[in-house]
Amino acid sequence: MKMSKVIWASALIAAGALGSAAVYAEDFRHTITGEDLKVPETSIPEGRDTDAAKHFLANGVNLYTEVATCLPKGEEIYLTACSGCHGHYGEGKLGPGLGDAYWTYPKNKTDKGLFETIYGGAQGMMGPHNDHSIDDLLKLMAWIRHMYTGDVAEADWLTDEQKKTFKPFKPQEHSSETAKADAGECKVPAQ
Ligand code: HEC
Repeated sequence: MKMSKVIWASALIAAGALGSAAVYAEDFRHTITGEDLKVPETSIPEGRDTDAAKHFLANGVNLYTEVATCLPKGEEIYLTACSGCHGHYGEGKLGPGLGDAYWTYPKNKTDKGLFETIYGGAQGMMGPHNDHSIDDLLKLMAWIRHMYTGDVAEADWLTDEQKKTFKPFKPQEHSSETAKADAGECKVPAQ
């Protein structure tokens, strides 16, 4: 266990020396136990190297938030893996609502905190979801943020620019089929 840390640390130094953008600066922790989730070592190998994944691992910020072309994939994952417990539009069912401004774990207002809760799980039926790639989890998170129905002022995950245009989610105005048909290639904005 210790050894893999050492290997990663040397990889970091090597990457730094080469001027790579991937500086795994963030330390990801289990929401309940505080245990080190060992991200990205414990993630499935695909989807660690996309621009969004690298940016997230280095800065803890999800660049897919409110990128319209990236939302349909996030919705697809949500409907397969989460809606059974959290409701079709995050309204809550067996699990708590994900669309309102109340969070059992306030850290879920940050991208890093939300990632930790999804990746490592929380209590009881909320198991770990690290069987999805980091890149897919970021798209899923963007969809969860998009389903937000609360006060925009409390949406800490939006940039000031995004807050100006964000409209609280209205399920009756959303059709996933249309969204899919209209979506182009999912790309993050240039940094
Ligand atoms: C088998 C049911 C089940 C599934 C499937 C499930 N969850 Fe949960 N989820 C729960 C329960 C129950 C809780 C409450 C656990 C707690 O409070 O610790 C929870 C809590 C959460 C929280 C914390 C909410 C808060 O208020 O802080 C988030 C975020 C979350 N789930 C996201 C997801 C996502 C995303 C998925 C799909 C990848 C998912 N869950 C799949 C049952 C589920």
